[in-house]
Amino acid sequence: MNVAVLASGQGSNLQALLDACGGPASSAVIALVVSNKPDAGALARAAARGVPVATIADDGQDADALLALLRSRAIDLVVLAGYLKRVPGTVVRAYRGRMLNIHPALLPSFGGPGMYGRRVHEAVLKSGARVSGATVHLVDEQYDHGEIVAQWPVPVRPDDTPQTLAARVLAVEHRLLPAVVLTLARCGAASRLGPTPEVLDAIARLPHPALPRSLDDALAA
Ligand code: GRF
Repeated sequence: MNVAVLASGQGSNLQALLDACGGPASSAVIALVVSNKPDAGALARAAARGVPVATIADDGQDADALLALLRSRAIDLVVLAGYLKRVPGTVVRAYRGRMLNIHPALLPSFGGPGMYGRRVHEAVLKSGARVSGATVHLVDEQYDHGEIVAQWPVPVRPDDTPQTLAARVLAVEHRLLPAVVLTLARCGAASRLGPTPEVLDAIARLPHPALPRSLDDALAA
């Protein structure tokens, strides 16, 4: 399964994917990394691994250019990993069910327009929530809105700052996102029509070595 990663920032989630998908036996190949920021750390991480990279217009709205890039590498699955621009509707439609996003909170809470980066964690702390976490979901036309594929909770501690909470969430993002991508690849999903409800169910149910077995395990981490 050929995977493209879109990223605007440092690319630590991309790194986790590169590390997880690097082996010759891996059924998922990171075949393309695209950024709207020429100086994104994600591009340097990809280039260091010999993965093809490309930049697109900063506003991310040139749908034809993005689709041409994805098609030129026969991309089966698109992963938004810290990608801060709205994906044009044409591209969302072309990859419906085959485009994932990772969000640093437990959706449907703390998502939507303007909820990215530090703001997410500030909002969680302000709310008094005792649990936050990471969510992987399918991308649709609205920010942080598509079907939830997998989540991983972490505790919010009384002395947390946005930075300490962000670091705790990011650590589980690095395990959750590769686990989802590798499970999709193993199931042979996301090749043409996207993951079926059965595959989504399999992701939710099958124990994966990288995932906590229970809510208690996750919160004890
Ligand atoms: C992550 O917290 C991700 O959930 C969010 O943006 C951040 C990207 O971090 N969408 P990185 O660039 O992968 O380090």
